Amino acid sequence: MKVSILIDNRPSDNPVLVSEHGFSALATTNENRRILVDTGLSGRAFDNASALGIDMQNIDYLILSHGHKDHTGGLERFVTINKNAKIIAHSAIQNFDYQSNRGGKWHSLSPDQDIIRKNFDRFIFIDDNYPIDNNIIIVKNKTTIHPRPLGNRYLYLISNSEALPYPASDEISLCINHDGRLTIISPCSHNGLLNIADECCNIMKTNNIAAFIGGLHLLDGEGDNIEKLSSTIIKKYPQMRLYTGHCTGNEACNMLANGLGAHFNVFKTGDTIKI
Ligand SMILES: [Fe+2]
Ligand SMILES: [Fe+2]
Repeated sequence: MKVSILIDNRPSDNPVLVSEHGFSALATTNENRRILVDTGLSGRAFDNASALGIDMQNIDYLILSHGHKDHTGGLERFVTINKNAKIIAHSAIQNFDYQSNRGGKWHSLSPDQDIIRKNFDRFIFIDDNYPIDNNIIIVKNKTTIHPRPLGNRYLYLISNSEALPYPASDEISLCINHDGRLTIISPCSHNGLLNIADECCNIMKTNNIAAFIGGLHLLDGEGDNIEKLSSTIIKKYPQMRLYTGHCTGNEACNMLANGLGAHFNVFKTGDTIKI
């Protein structure tokens, strides 16, 4: 199977492709199922898709990994380009008012509720795991034994004018079992890589993770125990290769590269990951 990174924070070497603070990736399975994960911030992911010769009409599902705007902002563009794909998201994205105060300034990360309402009939809103088939499951994390990234501390939900810490309860991941090995796509991993990996392994009844693809929200490793994270990955998931980008800062990437060696990879806009 392969995963094409349509847009990411890290720019491509190809000057035609644009990058932005956002994530969108297309997974193509061995059975030729095509599942888009997230839409980026602006919809420019689909200009990149067209420049890369990737057809956006023939998509089976769009998964919105969580409500944050850098993952849902391209939804309006997507529904004008693609008229058929069902859109899977946690039901909470309809209600949450997402905010960030990173850098000391409050700003909204909420999705465009108008676009969600206008395309309501295309949505499958879920509250728990959702199997697309026996080998492709949208996973709602319930594991909480490992730490979550400390970068979550800048994220909030506003309820009755009160700022509540972002619980990441709207976060879902795509888990694909191919030949007995798992590929997990988890664009921001606000629940923590190890919690998400454990949850996917419990559901799929195997510990053989081939690839974990996504941002880890480690920002610049601001106090996160990245040495422990790396050593636990190596111990629990020795076959796993980590492909990270988006909200994993450069400093965190350096620490992960030290800990994971050949198991560590950074992706950027326009990359194709073959697993
Ligand atoms: Fe993000
Ligand atoms: Fe996020």
